[in-house]
Amino acid sequence: MLKNREIILGVSGGIAAYKSVELLRELTKRGANVHVVMTKNAQQFITPLTFQTLSGNPVLCDMFQLLMGSKIGHVTLADIADLMVIAPATANILGKIANGIADDFLTTMVMATTVPVLFAPSMNVNMWESSFVQNNVEKLKAHGYQFIGPIEGDLACGSVGKGKLADNEEIIEKIEDIFTQKDFQGQRVLVTAGPTLEPIDPVRSITNRSTGRMGFAMARMARRRGAEVTLLTGPHYLSLPRRDIPQIVVNSAREMHDAAMHYFEDCHIVIMAAAVADFRPKAILEQKITKRKNETHILEMEKNPDILKELGEKKKNQILVGFAAETSELMEKAEVKLKEKNLDLIVANDVTEPGAGFGVDTNIVKILDALGKVKKLPLLSKDEVADIILDQVVKLVKMKEKGRPWPRNW
Ligand code: C5P
Repeated sequence: MLKNREIILGVSGGIAAYKSVELLRELTKRGANVHVVMTKNAQQFITPLTFQTLSGNPVLCDMFQLLMGSKIGHVTLADIADLMVIAPATANILGKIANGIADDFLTTMVMATTVPVLFAPSMNVNMWESSFVQNNVEKLKAHGYQFIGPIEGDLACGSVGKGKLADNEEIIEKIEDIFTQKDFQGQRVLVTAGPTLEPIDPVRSITNRSTGRMGFAMARMARRRGAEVTLLTGPHYLSLPRRDIPQIVVNSAREMHDAAMHYFEDCHIVIMAAAVADFRPKAILEQKITKRKNETHILEMEKNPDILKELGEKKKNQILVGFAAETSELMEKAEVKLKEKNLDLIVANDVTEPGAGFGVDTNIVKILDALGKVKKLPLLSKDEVADIILDQVVKLVKMKEKGRPWPRNW
């Protein structure tokens, strides 16, 4: 997404300036060519040499610095850029830009550019909440400037509150969001993720090795493409894919079933990436099972509801996407599930393949549709896989909008 993008990283004079060094590293790691522009105050916190060494580009600080032959720096750079991100953005820089002041390289360049500008503010909580700053932020937003953060946390001044620079991951997610076409605008998407947890006794349970990564990637990419996403997940240890994705955490398959039924009516697309337990212990014991009395313990199991199958029966014109994680006869099993559960797409993966399935950041999948077409994908990151699945979904959305016949319930 960021490969070969020309990004201007504006750094103004806040204590969080040191964090923009890491932001620069993350941006370059993703293939962006970053040009750093610093205010005079920012140079009190960190030296241009650090940014220059890490970006491989000259750092621009001086209003009258020349760049690329005889052209004036700020105009040249403003012309070649794809995006400007100002992190940290101080109250001072927000105030200047909101009020049309262009008295240094950074403020002049913001005025000279026509590309998206993203501010990541960072300051003391009272400064952030002051009517001066809030009015300036509103003014900047009204002009089309975008914001990420600040977030709540411990602030450098010793207080706690809203004023902390957004995490680099969030800033990068926002940048990628800005570069992404919003082809899921107006679509409400329910994504299920993670394992389920079926209790045995007060301290034990049965679960599986799903970590939720694939479902989380689906949720993040759908939101990035403009969908309104609800994430229904089993227990997990991941950080939230985005702050603007509501998360409903459940334990058992039956809890997931009830929540899925609740959200289904109101959504256009369901992506069922959760690894739902097929069986649960028939009885949950009130006391912890003890090993003293017995050498063996037999656990009687009963079937859980098949959530996706039920959704397939209920479906009116929603698009249903299922997953088939298998260890043998992948395509045959996936095809049966596609038909039996009345799905529009099924994503099949052999979890025994290295790099595929549970607990890794990559996957190797085949996407089957209800027309019998199969798309085989190589080893890709789960984000990339999610994006390609969404490309297939968006084709179905368009077909549906055009009223084209589709072999199933449409
Ligand atoms: O039948 P199988 O469990 O292999 O099908 C996998 C697909 O069905 C996945 O999309 C999974 O989320 C969903 N599923 C479900 N309810 C179950 C079991 C699986 O919705 N009880």
